[in-house]
Amino acid sequence: MLKETLINATEAGAAVLKHYFASKTLKISNKEGINNLVTEADHAAEKAIIDTIKEKFPDHFILSEEVGEIASSSPYKWIIDPIDGTVNYAHGIPICCVSIGLEHNGSIILGAVYNPLINEFFLAERGKGAQLNGEPIHVSNKATVMDACVVTGFPYTYLDTPNGPLEVFDRFIRKGVPVRRLGSAAMDLCWVAAGRFDAFFEHKLQAWDSAAGFLMVEEAGGRVSDFSGVYYSPYQPQILATNGVIHEEMLQWIRG
Ligand code: IPD
Ligand code: CA
Ligand code: CA
Repeated sequence: MLKETLINATEAGAAVLKHYFASKTLKISNKEGINNLVTEADHAAEKAIIDTIKEKFPDHFILSEEVGEIASSSPYKWIIDPIDGTVNYAHGIPICCVSIGLEHNGSIILGAVYNPLINEFFLAERGKGAQLNGEPIHVSNKATVMDACVVTGFPYTYLDTPNGPLEVFDRFIRKGVPVRRLGSAAMDLCWVAAGRFDAFFEHKLQAWDSAAGFLMVEEAGGRVSDFSGVYYSPYQPQILATNGVIHEEMLQWIRG
């Protein structure tokens, strides 16, 4: 029932994404920071997702980007990003998705990431692997950072800190390592899980950006940590997700 509801909720949100995509009259507004956008599709997708979950599990905890927390004492928490990649979405760029993770007693047990615009549905279940459109997926086996294809992202508000996002980015680019920037952390993580990218890192994410994708990478055989190598928690900002093989080397590159 949990998995079925996760799939139904993800599909309900994705139907809204598809409906408004490339609409000339899409209502767009700005949140905190510069170009931190939210559209009417984010709100409508979020409502469709939450309604679907609430219909089956009215007492579960909800944490969703636009509405925040709908708190309860339930051990189950649904962590929702109705559109991950909103800036892409608002520009008609089909790199965006619905991302939903389900936490039970503090551990993510199910995750779904769906981009209906390119028809890619990623699903992960703790202990049971990860899938893309029903087929099992696995991380890559690249053995060195110099052979890797890396992806990263940048926060809406520039982090002017030592070893900040641009400093680390610069380090890879100067050495000739390809680093991409897609604009959707959930998709970045799923594409690491599918073996397209070998590593993804970002300095400042929120739980809804990573909850589902984190499980996807783990269940596809990869490793996820913060920048000190500690096991990943979606409730702290830093993330490094890799195929596992290059994880220690990536940590050294990031730390400089
Ligand atoms: C953003 C995307 C982006 C990442 C940002 C996130 P949003 O989420 O995942 O790739 O770099 O840090 O905030 O705003 O599109 O849901
Ligand atoms: Ca997001
Ligand atoms: Ca979002």
